[in-house]
Amino acid sequence: MPQELSIDYIVQPGGHLSGQIRVPGDKSISHRSIMLGSLSEGITTISGFLQGEDSLATLKAFQAMGVKIKGPDELGEVVIEGVGMHGLKPPANALNLGNSGTSMRLLTGLLAEQGFDVTLSGDHSLSSRPMKRVTEPVVQMGAMIEATETGTAPLLIKSNKDSRLKAIDYTLPMASAQVKSCILLAGLYAQGKTCVEEPAPTRDHTERMLQGFGYQLQVSKLDAQRSRICLQGGGKLTACDIDVPSDISSAAFFMVGASIAEGSDLTLKHVGINPTRTGIINILRQMGADINLSNEKQVGGEPVADIRIRSAQLTGIHIPEDQVPLAIDEFPAISIAAACAQGQTVLTGAEELRVKESDRIQAMVDGMKVLGIDCEGTKDGMIINGGEFASGTVDSLGDHRIAMSFAMAALRATGTITIKDCANVNTSFPDFIGLAQSCGLLVTRVN
Ligand code: S3P
Repeated sequence: MPQELSIDYIVQPGGHLSGQIRVPGDKSISHRSIMLGSLSEGITTISGFLQGEDSLATLKAFQAMGVKIKGPDELGEVVIEGVGMHGLKPPANALNLGNSGTSMRLLTGLLAEQGFDVTLSGDHSLSSRPMKRVTEPVVQMGAMIEATETGTAPLLIKSNKDSRLKAIDYTLPMASAQVKSCILLAGLYAQGKTCVEEPAPTRDHTERMLQGFGYQLQVSKLDAQRSRICLQGGGKLTACDIDVPSDISSAAFFMVGASIAEGSDLTLKHVGINPTRTGIINILRQMGADINLSNEKQVGGEPVADIRIRSAQLTGIHIPEDQVPLAIDEFPAISIAAACAQGQTVLTGAEELRVKESDRIQAMVDGMKVLGIDCEGTKDGMIINGGEFASGTVDSLGDHRIAMSFAMAALRATGTITIKDCANVNTSFPDFIGLAQSCGLLVTRVN
C-alpha cells in the first residue's frame, strides 16, 4: 500500500486504439462485495474482483477482523466465509486503508457499533481528505469517534457498550455515494428506520447489493433529482454470488483515448453501465463521440454492456450539471477530451473534484497548461479551450486518474509526455500499462 517506489510514465506521441479489451473489475462494487459478504451468513463467491490496492485494502481490513477470505486468484475469484452481522473480531492493529476513501468512509458507518475500538488510518492523501461528512452523521446516531482537530483521519471508532446506535433521518449536504453508503451501513445496526435523502442521484451499488443479499430497503424518488432511501436496522444478510463488471471509470480513459485518436476502433467488454455511472457516455456523446453499446444484459443486479468507440471530431459543450455526480470520477479524462475538442468546454457544479485523491481541478489545469492548452480552473469547475497538446512533463500528484488521463493525451500530442508519480495507478488499475500497450498506446514506465 505505501508507495515507496516512484514510478513515472513516458508516453510517445501519436498512435491509435484498436481491438477488444476488458478493463479490471469495478472498484465500488468490489469494496462493497467484501463488506457485505463478510457480514453475511454463508459463503459468498465473487468473480471479477478488482485486484487493485484500494479494494485489497478493504479485503485485508476484513481479514484483520477475523473473516476468512480466500483469493483473489488470477481470475479475480474471492471466496468469503461470512461471519454474520455481529461476528467481526477486534483487529490487532489499526486498519491501514492506504489511498482508499471508499474503504474509510464506508467502514466508518459499518464499524460504528461493533463493540470494539478500531482505528482507521491511511496514506498522506487520505489523511488530508474531509471525514466530517461521515463522522458527523454517525456521531449523531450515537457513535463515539475521535478524529484530528480538522476532522481528518486517523479516525478512532470507540466501542460504546452503554448505548445502541439510533436511526437517523439525514439529508445529504452534497451528492455523495460514500456518505450515503456510510449512513446506510450504520443504519443496519441502528434501532429504528434510517433514511437518507440525496440531492441528486449518486451511484447506488450499496442499495442494489443490500437487496441482492436479501436486505429490504425502500427507495422513493422525490422529484427528478432527489430521492430517499430507508432501511430498518437489525436485519441480516444472506450470502450470494457476485459477478463484478468491468469498471466504467477505468473504461473512461480508453473511451476518451479512442475518441480523440484518429483511426481508433476499440471495444471495451463487459462494462458496468449502471445509470448512476454513465455520465461519461452521455457527456462524450453530447460532445459528438461515436459510442455504441451492444450485448446489454443484467449481471447480479447490475447492467453491463460491450462499448464500442470509434474516433470522432469532438465539440466543446457546457456540461449539464445533472451529469456531474454521474461522471464524478471521469472529469480528469473528460478534460483531455475537452482539450481535443473544437471550441470551449465549461464545467460547473463540480466543487467535489477539489477533495478527491488530489484537487483534480488544479491538477488537470496545471498539467494541461504545461502541455500548452488554454484553460483555467474556477471555484467549482474548469473552462477549457480546445487546442493541441505539446510535449512536456506533468505531475499526477499521486492521483491514479490524473496519471491515466494524461497518458491518453499523448495520442494527440506533438511530442513525448512524461507523467510523474504514477505508482498509485495500482490502486484502481493493475497492469494499466500492459493493457494500454496491447491496444496501441505508446506508453512505458520508468522507475
Ligand atoms: C465512490 C463514490 C464517489 C467516487 C469514489 C467512489 C463509492 O465518491 O468519487 O471514487 O464507491 O461510493 P463521493 O461519494 O465522495 O462522491
